[in-house]
Amino acid sequence: MAPPFSNSNALLFFFLILPTVLLGSNLYNDFDLTWGGDQRAKILGGGELLSLSLDRLSGAGFQSKKDYLFGRIDMQIKLVAGNSAGTVTAYYLSSQGASHDEIDFEFLGNVSGEPYIMHTNVYTQGKGNREQQFYLWFDPTANFHTYSVVWKPWHVIFLVDNSPVRVFRNAESLGVPFPKEQRMKIYSSLWNADDWATRGGLVKTDWSKAPFTAYYRNFKAQECTGSCMSAGAEAWQNQKELDAYTRRRLRWVQRNFMIYNYCTDQNRFPQGFPPECTQS
Ligand SMILES: *[C@@H]1O[C@H](CO)[C@@H](O)[C@H](O)[C@H]1NC(C)=O
Repeated sequence: MAPPFSNSNALLFFFLILPTVLLGSNLYNDFDLTWGGDQRAKILGGGELLSLSLDRLSGAGFQSKKDYLFGRIDMQIKLVAGNSAGTVTAYYLSSQGASHDEIDFEFLGNVSGEPYIMHTNVYTQGKGNREQQFYLWFDPTANFHTYSVVWKPWHVIFLVDNSPVRVFRNAESLGVPFPKEQRMKIYSSLWNADDWATRGGLVKTDWSKAPFTAYYRNFKAQECTGSCMSAGAEAWQNQKELDAYTRRRLRWVQRNFMIYNYCTDQNRFPQGFPPECTQS
């Protein structure tokens, strides 16, 4: 009689699939696999785990079935392990069209043992150029970690394991458009970007290590309506002003792990920084 699992399937089951069965969430209901074919984009374990793979021929991607306007979106991701240099795992919210809004995480891989870069950006009405980059305070390939977006009419907060890493405040009073009218879907893709991601293309993707695989689980989307939209509700993420703990945590991340901030890049903005920079 054939064993139900090969050894590697058994490992996958116990370490990746079983924990998500216990925690719930069915990715079949939430996402469509949109790119890479069924070999590269897969939902496993009855809907508990999603994987994207990249090889020499193609990357892979998925998108949410639903779109959202304000709320909190959480996803646990385990990034490509080992020599991931040249790979980029993009995870973002975006609306459609030329003047789209977008809230971006992009994870730039690295050679074994060297740190990933977490790149973030915010587009409003088709215009981005608001990059901030960070190292992480853990190895994002060893375990799943939670990457979240809290999107309210008065700010967008990027969180990693519930620590705020970036706040983009509503600066409409300064003439800066804020994402507040266009519904956004959630997208992710894993692709090869060795022409720019690795210090301007210095390090090339090592295809002998392909396929490169990233894993996703425990997706949670709480679209915000009713009382969730009123400022001053219980949870800190509903307050317009960050509380003391959140401000401290944000400062800690920015002081120790931020490696690029467009708001301090004098060379790029010799005529003066974008207006929203006075608020962050
Ligand atoms: C890769 O590691 C090097 C050396 O630690 C670091 O300078 C670089 O920022 C890391 N990330 C990328 C994407 O190159």
